[in-house]
Amino acid sequence: MRFEKIKREAERYVKDLSLRTHILVGTPTCGKAAGADEVVRELSSELKRRGIEIPVLEVGCMGLCFAEPLVLIFKPGSFNVVYRNVDSSSVRRLVEGYIEGDDPCLELALGTIEFDEEGAPIIPELKRFEFEKRILLRRCGIVDPTNIMHYIGVGGYSALEKTLHLPREMVIDEIKKSELRGRGGAGFPTGIKWEECAKMQDEPKYVICNADEGDPGAFMDRIILESDPHQMLEGMIIAGYAVNANEGFIYVRAEYQRALEMVRRAKDDAERLGILGKSVMGTEFSFNIQVIEGAGAFVAGEETGLIFAIEGKRSEPRFRPPYPSERGLFGKPTLVDNVKTFSYVPWIIENGWEKFYSIGTEKSKGTAIFTLAGKVKEPGLTEVPMGVTLNTLVYEVAGGPREGKRIKAIQIGGPSGGCIPSSLFHLPVDYDAFLSSGSMMGSGGMIFMDEDDCVVDMARFFLDFIQKESCGKCTMCRIGTLQLFYLLDKITKGEAETQDLTKLKELAEDVKIGSLCGLGRSAPNPILTTLRYFYDEYVAHVEEKKCPALVCKSLIAYFIIPEKCDRACEHCKLTCPVEAVGGNKGEPKYIIQEKCVKCGTCLNVCPPEYSAVIKVSPIKKLKELEIQNYRKE
Ligand SMILES: Cc1cc2nc3c(=O)[nH]c(=O)nc-3n(C[C@H](O)[C@H](O)[C@H](O)COP(=O)(O)O)c2cc1C
Repeated sequence: MRFEKIKREAERYVKDLSLRTHILVGTPTCGKAAGADEVVRELSSELKRRGIEIPVLEVGCMGLCFAEPLVLIFKPGSFNVVYRNVDSSSVRRLVEGYIEGDDPCLELALGTIEFDEEGAPIIPELKRFEFEKRILLRRCGIVDPTNIMHYIGVGGYSALEKTLHLPREMVIDEIKKSELRGRGGAGFPTGIKWEECAKMQDEPKYVICNADEGDPGAFMDRIILESDPHQMLEGMIIAGYAVNANEGFIYVRAEYQRALEMVRRAKDDAERLGILGKSVMGTEFSFNIQVIEGAGAFVAGEETGLIFAIEGKRSEPRFRPPYPSERGLFGKPTLVDNVKTFSYVPWIIENGWEKFYSIGTEKSKGTAIFTLAGKVKEPGLTEVPMGVTLNTLVYEVAGGPREGKRIKAIQIGGPSGGCIPSSLFHLPVDYDAFLSSGSMMGSGGMIFMDEDDCVVDMARFFLDFIQKESCGKCTMCRIGTLQLFYLLDKITKGEAETQDLTKLKELAEDVKIGSLCGLGRSAPNPILTTLRYFYDEYVAHVEEKKCPALVCKSLIAYFIIPEKCDRACEHCKLTCPVEAVGGNKGEPKYIIQEKCVKCGTCLNVCPPEYSAVIKVSPIKKLKELEIQNYRKE
């Protein structure tokens, strides 16, 4: 009854807002990094200066990170327009043109905004929206994450209200039938995990939301929590009801300060309205939540390690079974799910399992969220139905490669995933298809690599990360990953021999089998997949001492082509931090190889019309070039 009243009030708030001109500015972490705070300040002072009183709401991320800072102007009776890369100089034009006048300033726009039948935004000018299907992202960048009334007013917490009138088994059955699989990496069927936990007789029971997200290149969970935290909270309360738990924990890594701020605020607001805490929505069900600020350790994301961390111990994973659903936090049955997994729950309850089940492939249902990072034109975040191909993701959704380049591979799922070459871009995004390629979906972080990236160097980067993040409890992971790193380091330095490649493969396979937890077991994936698909690149490093992508510093050298070097230009010489550029004024410059630290400054500052600086590999090629080209000492 009480929620009915809150809901009516919230709907009135949203209706009133929709009848007024109002502005949304995306201020998630990515927006702030692009200068969104300054845009908010500038907008507020410009509106004040002109005596205009309209709401300016700070919202989360729409996933279009490449176009940030984003500003949305909603104008009843006219277009709702999204503006891209807004800065303080365009603020004035927008206020004058579209807030005061009737000019929608389309030259600054990314597109006009409409909503599909589920309330997800569609910007007709953007091709990616043809391929996207937004469930979790449908409100991101559209609702104010700090305002619970905004969430309730667009249908939020209705699924919880519905759930509280259903028998627990029915709620679990709904999730089971939807065939939702956990989005934290392993893809375990969520409904089955809920059922296992619900069956346990021991009490109390706990629910944990895993928001530790530490994969390099992944930021899906962060964006969801920064943009629509109530969605996850609602899913978590529903889970608590379904498994009969009264205590919950949200574990967010300390680096995610904005996400922590949003989650804490959401929790306090839900408590204030009686949606969380003692007797949820006036029922007999009580559910309390604590927000835990994690220590930012990758291994703390592994569920048994996470449980130890909440208990105040070292986050070292332990053998399973017993699984957390049997014996977890403080030795009691515990349900651990990822942010995205909980976030799907309200939608499934609201729309019915059939609707979720009807999206996706035979064994991977629903949608998948990916972060698109690296060498593409339009990096950001996307949500697509399971089953779209990698080709679609690369060329349609992420905008394709940057000018004149070719995408050669995707590193997916961080260190737990693997490297998928362009020859396999016909594969659909689906748990099983990725496994068949030797990779895995992981939690959804994608890093696009082009011809300027070296796969051996990339594998070295991940092994460096993993061996530093290993908790050290098991020998295979502690020493094995370090030895794998040493081998890769040797290869990238041109110090390896052919038999090192065999050693690398054998040790990678041993570490995969012999490690205790997923960290060590998945650590060799970047090595095994790159050995499988890019063996030639490894051979070139070892046998020819050559880095084909011209990345590995020990195997490359910089060279200035004398006849291309403009005699009046001194850019390389003036900017070289170690005075490794020789040549008198008015004469062609040259690199003093013994001094060069290979920072690449000379190449970066050489005017494109000259393009006199080049990289060469193997280094012995320098001799040839020096003979071919007259070099003045
Ligand atoms: C090294 C390592 C790190 C992990 N980090 C995370 C993480 O940050 N977030 C997450 O949800 N799951 C992470 N997992 C997976 C969890 O152990 C667990 O499978 C997940 O929380 C279960 O939730 P789900 O069924 O909703 O996916 C990690 C696993 C390993 C091995």
